[in-house]
Amino acid sequence: MKIASTFKASPFATSLLLLLPLALLALIYLIPNHIYYSLTSCRPSPANSLDNRAVAKPEFRLLVGIMTLPDKYERRHLMRYAYSLQRNITTAQIDIRFVFCNLTTEEQRLYVSLEIMHHDDIIILNCTENLSDGKSYVFYSSLPTMFGGGDRGGYPLYDYVMKSDDDTYFRLDALVEALKGKPKKDMYFGCGVETQNRTHPPFMLGMGYIISWDLVEWIAKSEYVRNHSTGVEDIITGMWLNTENRGKNRYNNYPLMYNYRGRNPEDFEPGTIAVHLLKELERWTRTLNHFNVTKGLKPSKLYHIP
Ligand SMILES: *[C@@H]1O[C@H](CO)[C@@H](O)[C@H](O)[C@H]1NC(C)=O
Ligand SMILES: *[C@@H]1O[C@H](CO)[C@@H](O)[C@H](O)[C@H]1NC(C)=O
Ligand SMILES: *[C@@H]1O[C@H](CO)[C@@H](O)[C@H](O)[C@H]1NC(C)=O
Ligand SMILES: *[C@@H]1O[C@H](CO)[C@@H](O)[C@H](O)[C@H]1NC(C)=O
Ligand SMILES: *[C@@H]1O[C@H](CO)[C@@H](O)[C@H](O)[C@H]1NC(C)=O
Ligand SMILES: *[C@@H]1O[C@H](CO)[C@@H](O)[C@H](O)[C@H]1NC(C)=O
Ligand SMILES: *[C@@H]1O[C@H](CO)[C@@H](O)[C@H](O)[C@H]1NC(C)=O
Repeated sequence: MKIASTFKASPFATSLLLLLPLALLALIYLIPNHIYYSLTSCRPSPANSLDNRAVAKPEFRLLVGIMTLPDKYERRHLMRYAYSLQRNITTAQIDIRFVFCNLTTEEQRLYVSLEIMHHDDIIILNCTENLSDGKSYVFYSSLPTMFGGGDRGGYPLYDYVMKSDDDTYFRLDALVEALKGKPKKDMYFGCGVETQNRTHPPFMLGMGYIISWDLVEWIAKSEYVRNHSTGVEDIITGMWLNTENRGKNRYNNYPLMYNYRGRNPEDFEPGTIAVHLLKELERWTRTLNHFNVTKGLKPSKLYHIP
């Protein structure tokens, strides 16, 4: 009601409103092309991005690829919240990306485009989701083309790349601490199977493992790896590295990366790096509550959350 009467009272405002878009259009048209392009091509990360790019001199740069499916909008929404509360990492650059194969529906093309415009944190690989057992190969082997090119004066854009899943929650503080001072070459980091060789696990579990960029490049080039690109994703990644005696700098974070065990305080390890098998919302709730992630909520007259 109020809005309508305001408009009635001011015909000048109404005509201004109508003229404004026209004026803007004229302005864009009048600006010489090269200036207009330089205004639009400088594309900063959206305010809603998870990137902690304010880090001045990172000790390392890590790309985290979370394997998921296009339709899992709600899970991405939840994980963005979980990680946006951890953007205050000051010693490392951590870029978190959701990774999936080709979109297949009109709905996905619209909603995923909107997500990208809003968050810019999605990587779409050239594959079909059916090929799920070869997806981590496609991921690693696509990265040199996506991020290569030596934008950092010949250095690769990332020192490390993690492959993770949409049912794993990482505590980035603890992860950064565990990665501190580790070699940036020939490095394989994660959590081995409890019953296997603890100092040199044959492979790191799929909940989340990191390899250094030199190994990413090797995977992308190796004919052997291309010939053996399918299988149980975490086991074959270990197998690729083992056949050429690579990943010699191996770091097993057992028992700080583990499968969800329950809701009680003793079900979580002090110094936890990652909790896995967070399939249901209930498990996410229990886990995020255990780690007090909403402790920073400011009191207000506008809401009451007991
Ligand atoms: C980042 O924020 C979280 C939650 O507020 C806090 O627990 C943590 O200590 C902070 N980390 C750093 C490196 O400041
Ligand atoms: C995508 O993959 C298909 C089938 O594997 C291949 O034919 C095509 O050339 C690839 N396209 C790009 C852009 O890499
Ligand atoms: C994925 O989509 C692109 C075009 O968007 C197409 O060129 C490519 O062949 C598709 N790849 C597969 C494996 O279907
Ligand atoms: C996935 O595979 C199944 C059977 O192998 C097939 O029916 C289905 O169309 C495939 N889906 C896609 C998106 O390729
Ligand atoms: C674990 O693997 C390393 C390297 O292959 C080997 O030297 C060591 O003996 C193994 N330890 C056990 C307990 O098998
Ligand atoms: C990969 O497979 C091709 C075709 O089967 C074969 O000719 C080649 O020798 C294999 N290369 C390696 C390194 O296994
Ligand atoms: C969460 O907060 C409670 C109450 O302040 C505290 O006792 C507990 O140790 C905290 N949990 C963790 C994992 O930091």
